[in-house]
Amino acid sequence: MIRQATAEACANIALVKYWGKRDAVLNLPATGSLSLTLSGLVTRTTVTWAEDPGDDAILLDGKPAAGAERQRIVTFLDLVREGMQASGASDRPGAPRASVESVNGFPRAAGLASSASGFAALALASTRAAGLELADEQLSVLARRGSGSACRSIFGGFVEWLPGSAADGQDSHAVPLLAPEAWDVRMLVAVLAERPKPKGSTDAMNHTVATSPYFEAWRACVPGDLDIARQAIASRDLARLGELAESNALRMHATMLAARPPVLYWLPETVAAMRRVRELRDAGMACWFTIDAGPNVKVLCDAAFEAAVITGLSDLPGVLRVISSRPGPGARLVPALVSS
Ligand code: PMV
Repeated sequence: MIRQATAEACANIALVKYWGKRDAVLNLPATGSLSLTLSGLVTRTTVTWAEDPGDDAILLDGKPAAGAERQRIVTFLDLVREGMQASGASDRPGAPRASVESVNGFPRAAGLASSASGFAALALASTRAAGLELADEQLSVLARRGSGSACRSIFGGFVEWLPGSAADGQDSHAVPLLAPEAWDVRMLVAVLAERPKPKGSTDAMNHTVATSPYFEAWRACVPGDLDIARQAIASRDLARLGELAESNALRMHATMLAARPPVLYWLPETVAAMRRVRELRDAGMACWFTIDAGPNVKVLCDAAFEAAVITGLSDLPGVLRVISSRPGPGARLVPALVSS
């Protein structure tokens, strides 16, 4: 029997960052985090389960996945296979075999959170294709196993990831804070480099936890930052949220700069974009930057200043393009494309 489902999920950008795990196997975070799911950065994934023996077939943006990237997806699919065995949806050990086709509308692995949208879409498509109907919180727990930040992309708009305290991680999942249509803000992504980043976030996080003397200070400041962010979102106070997000991102990068050897994701263009955001703000535009595990700069801004901030960023040498996003929806099933 062939069972297939297609799902779409949007990337999310954290305003209070996840940086550091308390359990590396289960992807349990050292702290909570808070993000905005983005309409413009979408991954669409189709999963087909078949009972015949053989390896999983995984195509990412039209190319067969290889090496560690492939292994990470197979390991995730094993979790879904376990769920199928437990529910009686499959009774052959090791089976069934998955065929996965995933297409990103934006560059992978360049700090644009493609693993978040990718594993959120994979969690939904793979479970539904298997006949498993998980509640959103359970889907978020599953997506977290693929990539921590993926648990937040199950939900739309502003989202908080509750760190949880259970050893099995069942209480470590995201919850929605504010629906996408409830606050019309923009997140602009200044794309400065489209090649995969030199060091993945998991390695960089583990290295930071192990060697940065600032990690404890980081961990201690996050709960307070989450309180401020929640209040700013509830009162739609963009200046308060933006200032907090900018400071939180710099504190995260400070912890990794203090690791030995240091983790430095910034390019000269990254610093130039940060400075440009400050100049635009000094000129009266409501905009604030944040940066993840890569060189690209994301700018939270008031919808009224969108065009002017895009121009201000695009003028910089080294900015390849600027992608504009609004608050976007959570992961959802979509009809499969019929191939001709
Ligand atoms: O989900 P991961 O393992 O790719 O880690 C994401 C880390 C950051 O993007 C830097 C921060 C975050 O909260 O998304």
